Amino acid sequence: MEKERRGRFALMMVLSLVVAMMITASCSQSLAHNKSTAKPTAAPFSVAFQMTGNVYPLGYYSVNLKIGNPPKSFDFDIDTGSGLTWVQCDAPCQACTLPRARLYKPKNKPLRCSDTLCRNTPGALPCHHPNEQCDYQLAYADQGSSLGVLLNDHFFFPTTSTGVSLTQLLAFGCGYDQHNPGPHLPPPTAGVLGLGRAEATIVSQLHANGVLPNVFGHCMSRTGGGLLFFGDHPLRSSPNTWIPLLPVSSNPHYSSGSAQVVFGGKLTGAKGLQFIFDSGSSYTYFNAQVYQSTLNLIRNNLNGKPLKNAPEDKTLEVCWKAAKPIKSISEVRNYFQSIAIQFATPTNVQQLLLMPEDYLIVSKNGNPCLGILNGSQHQELGNLNVIGDIFMQDKWVIYDNEKQRIGWFPANCK
Ligand SMILES: *[C@@H]1O[C@H](CO)[C@@H](O)[C@H](O)[C@H]1NC(C)=O
Ligand SMILES: *[C@@H]1O[C@H](CO)[C@@H](O)[C@H](O)[C@H]1NC(C)=O
Repeated sequence: MEKERRGRFALMMVLSLVVAMMITASCSQSLAHNKSTAKPTAAPFSVAFQMTGNVYPLGYYSVNLKIGNPPKSFDFDIDTGSGLTWVQCDAPCQACTLPRARLYKPKNKPLRCSDTLCRNTPGALPCHHPNEQCDYQLAYADQGSSLGVLLNDHFFFPTTSTGVSLTQLLAFGCGYDQHNPGPHLPPPTAGVLGLGRAEATIVSQLHANGVLPNVFGHCMSRTGGGLLFFGDHPLRSSPNTWIPLLPVSSNPHYSSGSAQVVFGGKLTGAKGLQFIFDSGSSYTYFNAQVYQSTLNLIRNNLNGKPLKNAPEDKTLEVCWKAAKPIKSISEVRNYFQSIAIQFATPTNVQQLLLMPEDYLIVSKNGNPCLGILNGSQHQELGNLNVIGDIFMQDKWVIYDNEKQRIGWFPANCK
């Protein structure tokens, strides 16, 4: 949803290890397929991707997807806060950020308004006639937007749990009119991989094609890079902390029910908070009340400790400085306490536990800065609380759209 500070970054990871693990560990998880909407799959199956990126200084995690015949590679920003995948497209394009040679060149005809997928696409523009082409327009919380048309093409997935590549005809957005008014740099990626709770997502289409269960997960490494999978990953059945999602009808995002925030064992006051899990947001946003009380608790706890306010460091809203510039959060982590977000589920309370390195970054000036921002300064967020990438580092976060739940557990994502 929200994007902060971007730049260009490339980090290769060794994927063979993970693929091997997935093959041996794809045990007998039975699939909860709705037979009336999806063809049954033969066996547990998943598609894996290596991710690139980090929380700071890049502010995003991305994957490479191959589209067309012959397949051409495009980098996509992973965004669980939006529901349509689109790529910058030479239709021709206005205000695309990539050189023309790196844009997607459409070959197939656009989807029609009469197509079911068009009707169920977030951002699909109103149609006057069923034969019109299916146009969409998406506006993101960072004021950026993409205007384009839906079409079909083949996606090529080289890395699957069976070791055999997969090719599927999928619908996506050909974005031919982009806007990035700032203040942040436009994304260096070719498009957005929308993984929200819509029927138009790639995962949901693969599910409708009978290829995968409607499940995916990511593991974002603190040191950069990580992993993304679609489908029946063995981790889906691992002992996990699961919380139910609010029904899509009441909240279109991956939104928790009632939660509260605890800092160092102290409640921040507000209860009944809703949190959205949004991989498209680099940082976490608390509404003004929770933000203020969290900040108060952090500041009280810093009393008498050798960290001073550093208002001159504009990297994020709140930065501190130590006696000398730091290289790693480990140098100051003893001055901070853990934060827990406690979610009330029908049967118990589950918590997302965050250590100082899960909510602080080290700025270019060598200062620790708070990776929790004042959501109330972003009108478009309303009263929402957003869990961004910084809170999801070095954890598997699994989005189970079949059981309408989200789960996580700690992991080394490197
Ligand atoms: C299966 O899908 C159909 C059509 O969307 C729906 O009416 C039905 O309730 C679903 N069944 C289950 C068990 O989810
Ligand atoms: C958070 O933002 C709101 C709206 O701009 C503002 O009124 C409030 O003072 C801010 N809180 C803090 C602690 O800066």
